[in-house]
Amino acid sequence: MSFARQMFGQVQRRAFTQSARQNSKVAVLGAAGGIGQPLSLLMKLNPRVTNLALYDIRLGPADISHINTKSVVKGYDPTPSGLRECLSGAEIVLIPAGVPRKPGMTRDDLFNTNASIVRDLAKAVADSAPNANILVISNPVNSTVPICREILKSKGVYNPKRLFGVTTLDVVRASRFVSSIKGTDPANENITVVGGHSGVTIVPLISQSGHTDITGEKLDTLVNRIQFGGDEVVKAKDGAGSATLSMAMAGARFAESLLRASQGESNVVEPTFVDSPLYKNKGVDFFASKVTLGPDGVQEIHDVGKLTDHEQKLLDACLEDLKKNIEKGVKFVAENP
Ligand code: NAD
Ligand code: LMR
Repeated sequence: MSFARQMFGQVQRRAFTQSARQNSKVAVLGAAGGIGQPLSLLMKLNPRVTNLALYDIRLGPADISHINTKSVVKGYDPTPSGLRECLSGAEIVLIPAGVPRKPGMTRDDLFNTNASIVRDLAKAVADSAPNANILVISNPVNSTVPICREILKSKGVYNPKRLFGVTTLDVVRASRFVSSIKGTDPANENITVVGGHSGVTIVPLISQSGHTDITGEKLDTLVNRIQFGGDEVVKAKDGAGSATLSMAMAGARFAESLLRASQGESNVVEPTFVDSPLYKNKGVDFFASKVTLGPDGVQEIHDVGKLTDHEQKLLDACLEDLKKNIEKGVKFVAENP
């Protein structure tokens, strides 16, 4: 089986027919980075993508355009007009631009650098691709997504159905880690992870996976590993960055899900960090939970379902931190529009 076929499953043949009917331009902002390069490669292998637009402030992965799949690839100059052209007509804008962590840092420590990078890119998206689905990867996601909302609102183009924080990596990790405990195929492990994307805001709902035998210390270790999986990678890379390849896979999976939904497939569900009604009464405007995707982006936001007492405690801790992270993003734009 070819790599592209493994990655995008058995729907590939149907996708060829569908994408022939539909133009799907995907833009990657930060395309030369540790995530940006493999993510761009995976989007080039995705037959649903017709145009791949690559932007970075440094030189990008030029040879992607030589790969013999149908999509047309273009790299754009790091100028305001280059960015405008890159974004124009994009259906999906993936944003992995920004600095990654080094050992000892939290994701929030990236805020000072990444907040303004994401703010400025969001302004460009608002101006040049106001109807695009925006997929924010740059950390801290809990704050960079609210930054995007504030910018889009200020430009009068905010559509809550089209703004997503990509939390897919937490789900990917959860299924991999559970499968290594249980000796199962990770592809069949579907673990719901809710909340946000940093430390205790990452809340895996193991009780909903059917693995009721993972309890006590085993459960605590598993939950901790999922919550701090990013730190595990940062430590292993020892100063050379954070997760890149697994993130590229996770970002490509989420983009593929959106394309499937926009090309008419129903029941496409992915956990993602969106403007959510679930905990607004607690002052938490954004929350990751399972979301059914449709042709217009968010179609239905699912609630978290039945929780154990242990999961409820995790959720309470999550909401407390999440509220602060979201407020930080909102305040940043108010003070630095
Ligand atoms: P990297 O440093 O390897 O790449 C970042 C790229 O962004 C660089 O090529 C850089 O030139 C580019 N860039 C910087 N400013 C830019 C701008 N204004 N416009 C366009 N491009 C710009 O970093 P990385 O490892 O690819 O990580 C990128 C971000 O993704 C980090 O913030 C990291 O924390 C985050 N991340 C998120 C997740 C997640 O699950 N959401 C997972 C892993 C990493
Ligand atoms: C991850 O979860 O791997 C990313 O958010 C990167 C990081 O800083 O941990």
